[in-house]
Amino acid sequence: MSWQSNRKRRLLADLAGTVLEIGAGRGANFGYLPSGVRWLGLEPHRRRRASLIAAASRHGRGAEVLAAPAEAIPLPDASCDAVVSTIVLCSVRDQDAALAEVRRVLRPGGRFVFLEHVAAPRGTWTRRLQRCWAPVSRRVDSGCDPARDTAAAIERSGFAWRELELFEQPFAFGLSVPFIAGRAFTAS
Ligand SMILES: C[S@@+](CC[C@H](N)C(=O)[O-])C[C@H]1O[C@@H](n2cnc3c(N)ncnc32)[C@H](O)[C@@H]1O
Repeated sequence: MSWQSNRKRRLLADLAGTVLEIGAGRGANFGYLPSGVRWLGLEPHRRRRASLIAAASRHGRGAEVLAAPAEAIPLPDASCDAVVSTIVLCSVRDQDAALAEVRRVLRPGGRFVFLEHVAAPRGTWTRRLQRCWAPVSRRVDSGCDPARDTAAAIERSGFAWRELELFEQPFAFGLSVPFIAGRAFTAS
């Protein structure tokens, strides 16, 4: 998907130092991360973790994979230069708790990079469909809730400043899915 690739290239290419990727899945982002970073993955799903470790090794990354949810990151305060989340905040059980953990593990001036699908504006057909689909999706798609206002959650989570792009991806039947992509920084 070139729309994702272009944004990932832009968001991930200049990361440095220790980078924690939450909900890293099967390792879709390895190709976008600079080779010099120390990558740490966090993935609570056992089978995905096994695929992730294999993908990490194929990409020449150390297999530093944490078996934990983003709501309880087993790392010390201020231990990461950046945290990456792509299509994960739709699935975490508690967005506020996960974002508080992201902030806790970031060093002062650290960066949270995100690419997430989000709820469509109220009153739209897409929003209605998202709400109807959410109970199914939560069951069959790793807890994914398509009707979450993730931009608002990031907004209230206390980052010092942020830059955020809102865009739509064409889906089916003339509908499109809203996404956000951007970066949020802790105070330095
Ligand atoms: C749609 S997949 C995205 C995977 C990967 N980030 C990507 O872009 O391909 C969502 C991922 O979030 C993980 N996940 C679900 N609940 C989570 C939680 N509470 N904390 C961290 N990751 C979680 C799932 O196991 C899954 O790997």
